[in-house]
Amino acid sequence: MQDREVVKQLEYIEKVKKLNIEKNLKYHIVTMGCQLNENDSEKMAGMLERMGYTATNNYKEANLLLYNTCCVRENAEEKLFGKIGEVKRLKEEKGTILVITGCMMQEAHIVEKIKKSYPFIDIILGTHTLHKLPEDLYNILNTKKKIRDILNIDGKVHEGLPIKRNNNKKASVTIMYGCNNFCTYCIVPYVRGRERSRKASDILLEIIELAKNGYKEVTLLGQNVNSYMRSENEREGYDYKNTEMNITKEDVMNIDNEKDKIDEEVKTFAKLLRAVEMIDGIEIIRFVSPHPKDFTDDVIEAIRDSKKVNRILHLPLQSGSTEILREMNRRYTKEQYLELVDKIKAEIPDVLFSTDIIVGFPGESEQDFQDTLDVVRKVNYEQVFMFIYSIREGTKAALIEDQVPDEIKHERFNRLKNLVESQFEENNKKYIGKIEKVLIEGYSKNNDKALTARTDSNKVIIIEADNSMIGKVVDVKIISEHKWYLKGVIV
Ligand code: 5AD
Ligand code: SF4
Repeated sequence: MQDREVVKQLEYIEKVKKLNIEKNLKYHIVTMGCQLNENDSEKMAGMLERMGYTATNNYKEANLLLYNTCCVRENAEEKLFGKIGEVKRLKEEKGTILVITGCMMQEAHIVEKIKKSYPFIDIILGTHTLHKLPEDLYNILNTKKKIRDILNIDGKVHEGLPIKRNNNKKASVTIMYGCNNFCTYCIVPYVRGRERSRKASDILLEIIELAKNGYKEVTLLGQNVNSYMRSENEREGYDYKNTEMNITKEDVMNIDNEKDKIDEEVKTFAKLLRAVEMIDGIEIIRFVSPHPKDFTDDVIEAIRDSKKVNRILHLPLQSGSTEILREMNRRYTKEQYLELVDKIKAEIPDVLFSTDIIVGFPGESEQDFQDTLDVVRKVNYEQVFMFIYSIREGTKAALIEDQVPDEIKHERFNRLKNLVESQFEENNKKYIGKIEKVLIEGYSKNNDKALTARTDSNKVIIIEADNSMIGKVVDVKIISEHKWYLKGVIV
């Protein structure tokens, strides 16, 4: 059944296209934040291109300038307001249409500030109204009346709007929206709403289409990607012990006729991984960001059985202290996290881990921090994304009085960084002599005679090879390590 909202927006796309005809209009998008925002920007780019705009790298040249914002950590606000202040002149001089969207627009105090101090912004779109860009644009072109289009209820999942991808070999596919976890430091559940998952048939159809168009690598995205369909399943009392997969590769490749069967069967993240595995042409599967609590046995088994899922798993730790984890509402202890790591290592011997860690959560003592360092030593991560805790208004942790002083936060951050970097050099040595299946991405930034790829674990490999190899998946032997990158040769 066609989604009426999508049909309506497709009509607006045609209307705007008519208004824009032969005007040679340009757009520029600035994306802040995570891969989900990148993917949303690709969708907005897709709509803009259908409406007659073409991309420009030079924002000064754009007729439409769009900011897709993030609010996970502070300083994003100053950055955004700095940028808006700067483009005011463009608006005055050449009437550039200014659009701001993304997570920050779901925060009432930010929208108030824009209304008061930056009234020249044409369109503010919330996270639940992104798909309405064509309608809002049509209205602004006709009436010039500023539009504030923000909803505080969860948006529906809309399928069938265009997309313009940034890369022609690797693609991101959002499989679920929102988050139900309410980790106490995190603003995401407030700005992205509750978990909603896309239907498996829609996801698989998108990936089959990508494979047909030559894409080799797909990253499944979600704020909490491995709780795919969990809220739907909980409502229906789905039995997670039922891990038997009753669909075949033929069903998946014949998806147009088997949609109902697939949607009936592929109701968990583990099954979705197994179904994506069946798609010919896709050679590398990644996913971000999972939650340790949803890293269930069926998911571990699906990865173990896969030839395509990359062997580096992102397993956000946040803190190594059981007490801080409880304050964070993470729903696992230090020991449970380490047991999970051991269990995964036992099933998947060549697995590697990356993680996210916050230092300086309110109430974090030196002993708590030592627990974090202890887990880092034990797991020996390939990559650690380190964050200094920042207060997010509206979250529970913002109300805790015992905030850690800034100097201590920075000092702990540096100690963690030193530990990670010392492990990093040691870890790199393990790669020498290994053969990695990688996608050749393009030219190296610093040397246009060399090409680059990434290991499963996201380390940069520099390869001297002919540029005809770009876009191919090949075996590369690592020959040396250089702290921030590895060197390899195609074998
Ligand atoms: N302060 C610092 N880091 C945060 N993150 C989320 N919220 C905050 C915050 N308030 C980090 C978490 C999360 C990553 C995307 O951002 O580590 O996993
Ligand atoms: Fe934020 Fe926790 Fe949800 Fe991740 S799982 S988006 S950290 S609330």
